[in-house]
Amino acid sequence: MRNPFQPHSIGLPTDRRSFLKKGVATAGAATVSSGLFGEALPVFAKEDERSGKLRKGDAAILRFLAAAEILETDLWQQYNELGGIQDSEVPGGSGSPLYTAALAQLDSDMAQYIHDNTEDELTHEVFINAYLASKGADTVDLDKFRTLPSSKASGAQQIGRLTNLMQLSVDTTWWTRYRSGTKNPDFGDTFPQAVPTLAVGQHPAIPRTDADLSPSDHLQAIANTAGFHFGTIEQGGTSLYPSVAQRVSNVEVLRIVLSIGPTEAMHFQTWQDKAGNAPALTDPTDPTLVFPNLNTTPGGEDFQTNLIMPEPTVFLSHDLPACSIVRPTNTKGVAMGALQFLTASGLFLGQSKEFFAFLRDLAEDADDARREGD
Ligand SMILES: [Fe+2]
Ligand SMILES: [Fe+2]
Repeated sequence: MRNPFQPHSIGLPTDRRSFLKKGVATAGAATVSSGLFGEALPVFAKEDERSGKLRKGDAAILRFLAAAEILETDLWQQYNELGGIQDSEVPGGSGSPLYTAALAQLDSDMAQYIHDNTEDELTHEVFINAYLASKGADTVDLDKFRTLPSSKASGAQQIGRLTNLMQLSVDTTWWTRYRSGTKNPDFGDTFPQAVPTLAVGQHPAIPRTDADLSPSDHLQAIANTAGFHFGTIEQGGTSLYPSVAQRVSNVEVLRIVLSIGPTEAMHFQTWQDKAGNAPALTDPTDPTLVFPNLNTTPGGEDFQTNLIMPEPTVFLSHDLPACSIVRPTNTKGVAMGALQFLTASGLFLGQSKEFFAFLRDLAEDADDARREGD
């Protein structure tokens, strides 16, 4: 049984919150898209279209994207409280000067970028939900799942969280995937990790307590973990939007998906550049965690840090010429795949069975969506 959808109202600046509520107030004729793909269209479908109602599949895709953006906002908010800029645009927390300084080893503007990425996710979340509401469709609310603990480090708010940034296994295969000139995950190809030891075990990406603020190489390992996790999250969004876009029917919904997706790519491009600046070190409190100098270990074009533009590679067919592209963009099962990818990273460690059931439900509905005529 699906949880009731309600307007999201935590941590939003006042103007955005009031906009969202206004949108939701128009959502009197909300429908829940629990039907299966292939179900006969209701006889009033055309009338729904005239009245501005969304097609079931389009609404399901937007709802999954709204959920993904709520989760992104939650994790970015935690980064911003400790390592970003806390202001009226992204309120909450008071900063951890030592963690912020460790992040600045990757780029002196890291705090600004973290702030801006956080603000972007917040607007994605609020906009998509408000658009759904404006069309009389159900919105997504995950507030009841804000049950995970905050970092106890000075500077973090003590509130319930949706995501866990303290036990991550960070997949860094995107590093070599975007540097490969012969492989593409849509053909089943696999890619080596940039930081193999980060992909296994459980690693904090934010200080868990003030004890994590020293020794300095330990704190730097945490900041490096964050630096790679930023890329891992944003490459996911970079693929998710073009992947679901292929099954959107309505042109305005397509415009939304095509306009938000590339901002995820802008985030990814920035983070990919910064991750290459992560200082080479071994975590003194966990010698299994090693950040290599990728230009020498292992070195070569699949690892070189300044090769941040996507390397042209095989696309659609091996008979066609190489092309510089986002990868993967296969649309089949993409929502469930995204959910499984995030789950495997430990991002939801500690979450309830109800949380996973709810997200699986949204992902299934999104993956059942078909472009009209297909
Ligand atoms: Fe986003
Ligand atoms: Fe994002």
